[in-house]
Amino acid sequence: MFSSRRFRVLNLYRVAQLALAVLAIVLISLHLGLLTYPFDRPVVSGDGPTTWNGVAPENDPSLDEETPSIKDADVTRIEVDPPLKDDGNVTLIQSAPAYIKAIMTPKDTTFPRLECPVPTQGRYEYLRTPSKSGKRRYFFAVNLHDSIHILPRLLGSIIEAIRFLGPAQCALSIVEGRSDDGTLEVLEALSTVLKEAGIHYILKSDNKDPLGTPGERIAKLADLRNEALEPMINNSDQYSTKDTTVVFLNDVSLCIEDILELIHQRVYQKADMTCGMDWVNLWRDPTFYDVWVGRGMNGDSFFEVPADGSWDNAWNLFWNDLQTQDRFDRHQPFQVFSCWNGGAVFNATPLLERKIKFRSSVEGECFQGEPQLFVKELWHLGYGKIAVIPSVNVAYSDERAREARMGKGDVTGILLMGEGNDRVEWKAKPPKKVKCMHTYDAQEWRPWDEFLKPRTDHQDA
Ligand SMILES: *[C@@H]1O[C@H](CO)[C@@H](O)[C@H](O)[C@H]1NC(C)=O
Ligand SMILES: *[C@@H]1O[C@H](CO)[C@@H](O)[C@H](O)[C@H]1NC(C)=O
Repeated sequence: MFSSRRFRVLNLYRVAQLALAVLAIVLISLHLGLLTYPFDRPVVSGDGPTTWNGVAPENDPSLDEETPSIKDADVTRIEVDPPLKDDGNVTLIQSAPAYIKAIMTPKDTTFPRLECPVPTQGRYEYLRTPSKSGKRRYFFAVNLHDSIHILPRLLGSIIEAIRFLGPAQCALSIVEGRSDDGTLEVLEALSTVLKEAGIHYILKSDNKDPLGTPGERIAKLADLRNEALEPMINNSDQYSTKDTTVVFLNDVSLCIEDILELIHQRVYQKADMTCGMDWVNLWRDPTFYDVWVGRGMNGDSFFEVPADGSWDNAWNLFWNDLQTQDRFDRHQPFQVFSCWNGGAVFNATPLLERKIKFRSSVEGECFQGEPQLFVKELWHLGYGKIAVIPSVNVAYSDERAREARMGKGDVTGILLMGEGNDRVEWKAKPPKKVKCMHTYDAQEWRPWDEFLKPRTDHQDA
């Protein structure tokens, strides 16, 4: 009897293992756009217009239990300005104030969100200095789809950062799409509150479905990103041409210190773009996620993905670039060819000059995500100082972000250890060839600049 029970337990274990493996394959396939889209909604939250790479492996079930009523919250004004949707869901509208309160109140504990430390004293003070021209210097851009579980932390941290940097020199642009979990209701209700707080806020709702038409996923994601940037590009006179920073974030859980550190490192390293690292837990240990986009200065992916698509080597980051691996292990910033990793902070100049935008690959060009193409164009324009800041560790839910920070470190802790401040030694030239991963079983090396037109306005890096 004992042994038969043990047998059953073993069997169950096998089944669970198999289920996990199948789930992993489905997640990765969806991520690569390999599966045509068989459901009427994304299977995993976050795999919407936010990004093809923003897969949140699970929703936070604790949020489903929250049914805050309107009278519990301080914020009672939820009139919408301007109204985006005539027939909002009353239940969702009524739960919005609790979210608004959490977003606007750093200490609010209504939701079990990631706890964040107070940013390192003095380190970011200089970022608050207004530009001499009196123009805006920080543009926050976010694409969201069914992201209610992440809003209290993500928007809470963004609002904290804007308050710290000075609302007069910031703007927040959000493009929402096709949410029916209350995301839009919260974003609409925010507009009144942010206006009162003096925060320039532009909200747009767009029903483009990146998974609606096979083959158009990247093009639609690129459109949605461009839409989020439009309020800046169309009103470029409000922004400092030489000194505006775009903070473009996915549906991630992160702290104000992560945002400020990415902005600071861009200044400190004289970088054109900075990224953190994003993590998921497919198995037991935190696993680096954005392997489809990230390329080192050797042109290779951050970890080796064999043709069978297995992520077994995910722990072995920068396996064939020991210098980078060493810097990563010591939490020191390092140059890469491309990264996005849950969000990026970059120089707005080429956007304000209308020299670049997000796009999908052209015919014959390596099929890749819009962030990687964006970075390729940045290099082409001479903006190749792109760095990963490994003290910034983000994830797609509060729970996973907690684990990622515990396992991989957080900004405050890493600075306390005396790490994270080494200067990057910039290489002026990109790798000659970059690994193209249309699919994992069709990997090949392609010239980094294939299909780029020679530019007459080229600057030297
Ligand atoms: C409103 O949203 C709630 C919560 O998601 C859902 O249970 C309900 O069915 C929705 N009502 C309508 C009329 O769509
Ligand atoms: C920006 O300008 C373009 C072209 O004039 C226009 O189509 C678009 O609607 C504008 N977008 C915003 C957000 O003002």
